[in-house]
Amino acid sequence: MKKRWNKSLLVVFSTFLLCFQSCKDVTPTVQIKKRVLSKNGGVVSAHPEATKIGLDILKQGGNAIDAAIAVHFALSVCYPVAGNVGGGGFMMYRDEKGSLYALDFREKAPIASTENMYLDGQGEVIKGLSTEGVLAVGVPGAVKGMEEAFSKYSALKNWETLLQPSVELAKNGFPLTKKQAHNLNKNVDKFKRQNPQLESPFIPKRPYKEGDLFIQKELALTLETIKSEGAEAFYKGRLAEAFIADIQARGGILSMEDMHSYDAKWRDVISIPYKDFVIHSMPPPSSGGIVLAQLFNAVESHAFTSIHNMQDVQIMVEAEKRAYADRAHFMGDSDFVKIPIETLISKAYMKDRMKDFSFSGASPTEGIEHGTIESEETTHFSIVDQDGRAVSLTTTLNGGYGSKVIATGGYLLNNEMDDFSSKVGHPNLYGLVGAEANKIEPGKRMLSSMTPTIIEKNGALFLVIGTPGGSTIITSVFQASINVMEYKMDLEEAIQSCRFHHQWKPEEVFYEDGCFSDELIMGLTQKGYKTKSRSNIGRMEGILITEEGYELVADKRGDDHAMGY
Ligand code: GLY
Repeated sequence: MKKRWNKSLLVVFSTFLLCFQSCKDVTPTVQIKKRVLSKNGGVVSAHPEATKIGLDILKQGGNAIDAAIAVHFALSVCYPVAGNVGGGGFMMYRDEKGSLYALDFREKAPIASTENMYLDGQGEVIKGLSTEGVLAVGVPGAVKGMEEAFSKYSALKNWETLLQPSVELAKNGFPLTKKQAHNLNKNVDKFKRQNPQLESPFIPKRPYKEGDLFIQKELALTLETIKSEGAEAFYKGRLAEAFIADIQARGGILSMEDMHSYDAKWRDVISIPYKDFVIHSMPPPSSGGIVLAQLFNAVESHAFTSIHNMQDVQIMVEAEKRAYADRAHFMGDSDFVKIPIETLISKAYMKDRMKDFSFSGASPTEGIEHGTIESEETTHFSIVDQDGRAVSLTTTLNGGYGSKVIATGGYLLNNEMDDFSSKVGHPNLYGLVGAEANKIEPGKRMLSSMTPTIIEKNGALFLVIGTPGGSTIITSVFQASINVMEYKMDLEEAIQSCRFHHQWKPEEVFYEDGCFSDELIMGLTQKGYKTKSRSNIGRMEGILITEEGYELVADKRGDDHAMGY
């Protein structure tokens, strides 16, 4: 009797185990992992589905570039707030031999755009014109960018394999996380306003809730076409024709000529030595690499002690003020404006810029001019493959769900035009001011803050990192890197630690709620700093190379997910 009982128990238990295994495969919600240690590398992205798709590609023998392409298209499906086919971005790539490459697939201003297109008859900025609706849309760069990366560096050399998981994800749907359901519901009125009478998953008949399947049949067809016909279909073929006809019918200025002439470009990497490290990041039209270089140069001689130390905060804030003042004055698309890059990233220049700073008190923002000679919804992912190739890629629609315009084809269009200076000195979505260098010109790329970064230590791959966050992107990458390089934190602590930010104007040190102690706030206030608490800053994804292998960390601030192999 006892034996039979034990045997039945065993059967029940093994049936349960079997069911547990298979149920795990079909369970709609993934167990989100924030930190993973691995031997061969892995993927960290803003959404579990995208991370899984990227890892599957790596396991099939794809390299980091193959995985990046698959993750990028997957994010356009499962992370529509920022993942995109109707947007653009930047990719940093380090190959197996240690060579660095920077790919620019940033949007461009339409040929019919004009410097004053967002101003009224009195020269005042018309509120919302550069942020919502068809006039806010720049020529999308993402599909071209992915194809460019594929043609140069794919190991699998099979475009269809990279697109197929996203086609299926769009066709079959994926379960919305709680955050996603809430965020989509919050934006339904805007989607309705920009897309009246349209039937779309972005305009549901009843509010979404966690676990609802988000199915995008039209997007699945678009991805299927890109899969079988390549970027050509998106920029020249039937997808382009349908998209442009619709956008023009809705009052937009994008043309077939804009689509035909769009090109993704390989740029010269910004590389800056810092102690035992070399920091590699994105050149213009992103301000990320230059500003990051300036920040590191400004603090190189400082003896860092602790993340809570007032002098550490002070010197970082003062460096940020000066670098962002330079950003506003000097930076724009280097194909259109001459930027004194070499000078700006030189050690001597920043040393000179910091001369008037003393720990005794805050340098007033108004006193800081540029030296004498740019909703925070973007997304980042980091990948390392088993041969040590690394991809750091940041991509965006600009604001959450971009312009809220749903293109024929079921994808969302960016509102990247707002990253230009609509008017000299007028703050954009992120409060960033710009000048002549970033004025609107036909075919020009708008200045970005995206900072996909790869750091080497003693010549070897050390850290792959980046984040969304608009104007706060650069300062977040700076702080998390300082956390690892100076405070010797592991990557988990470095990424999950709280963040602060200064961007020259407004004259405030922003800090995440609870980030600064009362004592630190009092100390900073006594020294003349204005401090202001705010909600989360960024959602960082990073991979740190350790003696044991890889530490992959996904930011606790979202549904971000890490997987290794
Ligand atoms: N759209 C945000 C950025 O490029 O900085």
